[in-house]
Amino acid sequence: MKFDDDLIINAKKEICETKDIINLNKLKIKYLGKKGYISSQFLLIKKLNKKEKISKSIIINYQKKIIKEIIQKRKKEIEFKINSKQYLSQEIDISLPGKSIKMGSEHPLSYIIKKIENFFIKIGFQIVIGLEIEDSFHNFDALNIPKNHPARTKKDTFWLDKNILLRTQTSNVQIRIMKEKKLPIRILTAGKVYRNDCDSNHTPMFHQIEGLYINNNVNFVDLKGILSLFLNFFFGKKCKIRFRPSYFPFTEPSLEIDVLNKNKKWIEVLGAGMVHPNVLKNVNINSSKYCGYAFGIGVERLTMLYYNISDIRLFYKNDLRFLKQFKLNNFI
Ligand code: DAH
Repeated sequence: MKFDDDLIINAKKEICETKDIINLNKLKIKYLGKKGYISSQFLLIKKLNKKEKISKSIIINYQKKIIKEIIQKRKKEIEFKINSKQYLSQEIDISLPGKSIKMGSEHPLSYIIKKIENFFIKIGFQIVIGLEIEDSFHNFDALNIPKNHPARTKKDTFWLDKNILLRTQTSNVQIRIMKEKKLPIRILTAGKVYRNDCDSNHTPMFHQIEGLYINNNVNFVDLKGILSLFLNFFFGKKCKIRFRPSYFPFTEPSLEIDVLNKNKKWIEVLGAGMVHPNVLKNVNINSSKYCGYAFGIGVERLTMLYYNISDIRLFYKNDLRFLKQFKLNNFI
């Protein structure tokens, strides 16, 4: 074996003549493999003196690099030929229409929650997120709900153990926020709540939106004003609403609002009132200095009125015939 100055020329000729990948791989081993031409050229320089060693190794490294490049280029050429042969042998009818992609749409409840949140954000409410698994202090006790209240029984509430439950109302967030945040507080929270109930107007899980405003000069007129404004925005000015005196343990005075539906029936959509001084006391807020209002909106009820839907269970059946009707509220 001697130094081969024509190595590149010879290798190139041979490589360019190969027609398939198997033979190309054989040539790769022949030239670049462990026992290949390039390796044997390197073995030859061992006998040379230092100066010659350097100049020869530069040449051999160059040969190696060029042969590698020629092999890579040839590989691409062979692959391209194989692919184009395959494409040409297939019969592709480019005039066929493509498959259309079916777009999903936003669930009506998500859309309505967003719509309500956007209204309250605009008038200064901050959106917060609460817990769905709660303890009885935040869901009942701190909200001034007596120990013997029927809502606390297993018949109504899903208890996880003696003290822990799936929240029955978003009012639990009022307590957590009043404990954590500095005054004044103006928050809105939307989320799932759970009650042991199921018929055309009730599902065991449904959604509420809770609002809370605490400051040193809040009054009942503010509450009525904000709720009228909201319902006018939501249903339009023509919609008929009525305020009705009511009772909740955590507000005093309390009210409920009904909306007149298409069948001239009054449907209750929200409860509200001035936060009870006992509730403020439970979270260490001085009720002689501060007061506030709270409200709880039934999201399913409002959505049913908005779209004229008669059965609440339709929201959760995943029936495409129902869901497709809300295409207009698409993501795009
Ligand atoms: N938590 C009540 C319910 O689930 C709704 C409610 C009424 C919330 C009055 C409030 C309120 O914040 O002030 O029926």
